[in-house]
Amino acid sequence: MPHATASPITIHKIEPQPGSSFDFGAEIRGADLENLTETDTRVIINALYSNQVVLFKNQQSLSAKAQYELTRLFDPTSTDYGHGKTLDAKRSILHPDLKTIPHQPQVQVIGNGPVAEFEGLKNITLKHPHHRTFHKEVISDEDDRDNTRFYRWHIDAALYDLEPPKVTSLLAVKVPKTEYQMLRYDDGTGDELKLSRGSTAFVSSYKMYDLLSEEDKKFARTTKVQYAPHPYIWMSPARSRSHGLGLVSENIELPADQLPPIDKSKIKILPMCWKNPVTGQLALQIHPSAVQALHLADGSTISDLKEVREIVHRLQRPGIAPELVYAVDWEEGDMALFNNRGVLHSVTGSFLPEEVRIFRQCNMAASEGVIGPDE
Ligand SMILES: [Fe+2]
Repeated sequence: MPHATASPITIHKIEPQPGSSFDFGAEIRGADLENLTETDTRVIINALYSNQVVLFKNQQSLSAKAQYELTRLFDPTSTDYGHGKTLDAKRSILHPDLKTIPHQPQVQVIGNGPVAEFEGLKNITLKHPHHRTFHKEVISDEDDRDNTRFYRWHIDAALYDLEPPKVTSLLAVKVPKTEYQMLRYDDGTGDELKLSRGSTAFVSSYKMYDLLSEEDKKFARTTKVQYAPHPYIWMSPARSRSHGLGLVSENIELPADQLPPIDKSKIKILPMCWKNPVTGQLALQIHPSAVQALHLADGSTISDLKEVREIVHRLQRPGIAPELVYAVDWEEGDMALFNNRGVLHSVTGSFLPEEVRIFRQCNMAASEGVIGPDE
């Protein structure tokens, strides 16, 4: 049943397929995104924080500027892209995946294949991230067309200096429609998930928190997470676990003397749980690949990287169970907005070099820090 509002906008919960039980995601209908009233804006903001991922259909004609303005509704005083200028660093693992739109630098182009002209970018080649470039163990070449992985579970955030963006928007401009793939976790559990090639996977970090034991909830509420300085350069030699949820510990992260200068005041130490500004719910919100140390309630610090990662993995892994994943099966014109402080997301799928796929992505470094738990 659509949820009635005082504007023409209606909210429709995403119904999971049989066997699936994720409890978030909604489609928003009836919104004119170029001409939103104050009431519309309030309805959309509430819908986002109540459903974490919201989808608007048929938005192919929305300009990059309108996408920027829509994304900024959630944080009106923010103006700069979520990674700032840090992507300029050629050694960042994010560098190859994103191309900045010259006339709207908060909006990035991502996708796959050769593109002659798009938003003022000429003769670009986009490359869909393939797990082969990031995972420690990979799917064999012969299985690769029919099988895939979660590439990297993450939050969109620089995690150094800048505050994590509140919301990210993704517009599917061009989507090659091909067959389904089997997403394999390959972690010994036998977990797998059938999804449409190139789906973006989301999990709720509120569910991730709710699944914890009372003891772990308390630990999560009272522990702070320290992120590595320049995390995407720091982690560049390291490789991921097979389900994309954190890195394998081989002691090969770059030492400080091989990183750009570190300003200690810019290192991020964030709560392990982030509070939803509308519902007050707590999300277990950790970027698993970027963590470096944990600061406990008793004043002690865990800085052994392998131990830190084991703890974080134990807390997060139940939350990415196949039935809890909302895999957005993109259609051209889909505009998704997601609560970047309440979900983790991952690229999935693999494309042939000539398969053209174009998305526009936008987020802004937030104007304020995350809200932690009360206690
Ligand atoms: Fe992302």
